[in-house]
Amino acid sequence: MSRPTFAEVNLAAVRGNFVALRALLAPKVKMAGIVKADAYGHGAVPVARTLQDAGCDMFAVAMVEEAVELRVAGIHRPILVMGAIPADEIAAALEYDLRPTIDDLATAREIERQAAPHGRTVAVHLKIDTGMNRLGVRAEDAAAAAQAIAGMPHLVLEGAFTHFACADLDGHAATGGQLERFRAALDAMRAAGVLPPLIHAANSSALIAVAAAHFDMVRPGLALYGIRPCSAARSVPLVPALALKSRVAHIKCVRRGESASYGHRWTATRDSCLALLPIGYADGYPWALSNCGQVRVGGRLCPVVGTVCMDATLVDVTDVPDVQVGLEATLLEADHDSPLSAEAVAALCHTIPYEILTGIGRRVPRLYPNSGEK
Ligand SMILES: Cc1ncc(COP(=O)(O)O)c(C=O)c1O
Repeated sequence: MSRPTFAEVNLAAVRGNFVALRALLAPKVKMAGIVKADAYGHGAVPVARTLQDAGCDMFAVAMVEEAVELRVAGIHRPILVMGAIPADEIAAALEYDLRPTIDDLATAREIERQAAPHGRTVAVHLKIDTGMNRLGVRAEDAAAAAQAIAGMPHLVLEGAFTHFACADLDGHAATGGQLERFRAALDAMRAAGVLPPLIHAANSSALIAVAAAHFDMVRPGLALYGIRPCSAARSVPLVPALALKSRVAHIKCVRRGESASYGHRWTATRDSCLALLPIGYADGYPWALSNCGQVRVGGRLCPVVGTVCMDATLVDVTDVPDVQVGLEATLLEADHDSPLSAEAVAALCHTIPYEILTGIGRRVPRLYPNSGEK
């Protein structure tokens, strides 16, 4: 059984974006593909398989559960878990050979304690907070933390990383400040003889706009999915990979003066034809698009009318010739210049494309046309 509402994911575009980003890097710089949050809504396993095939060196996710899903599906490249790992998830991290992030020494000690009985060594990455003020040891404490980790027999410090707060804001001074603090932390680690081999910092924006942040590895997310993370990305041939589609499930004709949907926030100013699309805010089509979104039906942009419901959205198809049940409707288009691009829709909702893409619900099937993926 397949729902008439689906997200169409173009894996060739994901692969092409990977290649376009790689072309910006020196050959020795590795790439960790960020595939957390179900690969930003695109489907973690098919995306990771595509990237693994294309030569992506590593993957990074937010939580152990996401990494286990990849391992079970046969992803064999290293997987970094970037979020804080609760003590009761360390066993799974060991079992599935994941790279935990060390964001404080208590986590390091707990991993050491749990790894010791297995006689295993665990490769870990130290998170250094250089100004995001979210997760990680403070930059001035990084060398001491790295030394402490070096003293733990079952941990191997494979990497050290930081994360930028403002890399998407052109030339923002905070990025330079973070880089400076990161470099100082790395110098102190080098001086203490505990500098790990994989230093990384750059998200998509920094990969594209801040070459000095490439170090040994970069960690793009958004750009892999073809969305431009910053204005400099216009010069990179990124292709959006996801379209969100549905089909007309029902057509209702209303008379001028009649209202529709919750709160009767829309009233017909002419006799109108309304198409019901079986997609609502529970599928990730934002409620904020009530009375202001647009959907392409029969090649025409049609206004969303009334309140977006949990499972349904009404669009005014009065001007669509030959509209009928089953006609395809596109709610998000994989095209930078479309008013239905993830960026344009996000702007209309006063949010960011990350939220639009990751918000597409689990009950929306992802289809992968022209690929072996199902
Ligand atoms: C630590 C870390 N690195 C890299 C990324 C990728 O960021 P972007 O999607 O902007 O490339 C994220 C995303 O939130 C992140 O949290």
